[in-house]
Amino acid sequence: MSVLITGIGELTTNAADGVLTGAALVLDGERVAWVGPAAQAPDADERVDVEGRAVLPGWVDSHTHLVFAGDRTAEFTARMAGEPYAAGGIQVTVDATRAASDAALAAGLRRHVAEAVAQGTTCLETKTGYGLTVADELRAARLAASVADEVTFLGAHLVPAGVSMADYVDLVCGEMLDAVAPHVRWADVFCETGAFDEAASRAVLSAAAAKGLELRVHGNQLGPGPGVALAVSLGAASVDHCTYLTPSDVDLLASSSTVATLLPACDLSTRQPLPDARTLLDAGATVALASNCNPGSSYTTSMAYCVATAVLQMRMSVAEAVRAATLGGAQALRRTDVGVLSAGARADVHVLDAPSVTHLAYRPGVPLTWAVWRRGERAR
Ligand code: NIG
Repeated sequence: MSVLITGIGELTTNAADGVLTGAALVLDGERVAWVGPAAQAPDADERVDVEGRAVLPGWVDSHTHLVFAGDRTAEFTARMAGEPYAAGGIQVTVDATRAASDAALAAGLRRHVAEAVAQGTTCLETKTGYGLTVADELRAARLAASVADEVTFLGAHLVPAGVSMADYVDLVCGEMLDAVAPHVRWADVFCETGAFDEAASRAVLSAAAAKGLELRVHGNQLGPGPGVALAVSLGAASVDHCTYLTPSDVDLLASSSTVATLLPACDLSTRQPLPDARTLLDAGATVALASNCNPGSSYTTSMAYCVATAVLQMRMSVAEAVRAATLGGAQALRRTDVGVLSAGARADVHVLDAPSVTHLAYRPGVPLTWAVWRRGERAR
């Protein structure tokens, strides 16, 4: 089944041809078959006229935590009244997640993925990390693998109540990793005060790499720390948060292939400063934007909100923010088939009910998603 998309007002491709006007797009099955001038478009089984709307690659949300149960409204309310965010809140979600049935967890996961897709997200990573026992982490990995494009093992999210750091790190590096590894591509660690220190983080990541997993790191979220340097030294694909960076962290990111993934919705929800995207971009680092959807620090699936925040409050241009939320996410996941609209790419297309991507920041908070194709299937 092929689809010809015509009437495109502005086409963001993220390929060498950049932003096109007067262009058309042909999808064939799961792939983009053709991109070029509308006047030269080949015929297709179906024709969709988008009547001057902007078309861009679907969002690539490279950081979410969607296998969870429970609710942390009370913690959010306390934070808005002045309480600080702390890693320890994760235990509340761990307790609720362990107590939930497989069916309830799966239903919640599917609901949040559907919510994201309806807003233009077409490629999504999600993590374990609210189980923290071998059985619960394995269950989370299996569930995540049934719906997400990319799955990450985050057994090292928090040392669970009643266990020592040393014993828990041994478990994560041994039995837990052995059980979960067949179901995931990535391993991650929350390298932060109150979670895992540098030595423990390095041990977990090294064990995962020895098992063939690729690496990502939660780092520099609540204060300056070793996360960025650790991620770069181990060749991680991405270091996520990057809220507190030193000049040397920026240099390391600018001179490595490790992507700086910024999570502005989380910084707003935890009352942290927003990351210094401008300094990272000006230094030459690769920047991604992601939602970090989770019930504790960032309960949103809206990539458009992240893009609007990046433009309005982080001094990113609209083009930079859109690129970071599409191609940047793809780079953070080491994927070349998403985040781009060119022949051969995955047919992941987002049509805005607006003539240009600038409206994402110009009309913040307005639901602008008009149509979505995910792997060539019309998803909205
Ligand atoms: O990325 N920082 C660690 N993990 C999540 C928060 C998880 C939670 O508070 O439940 C994050 O912000």
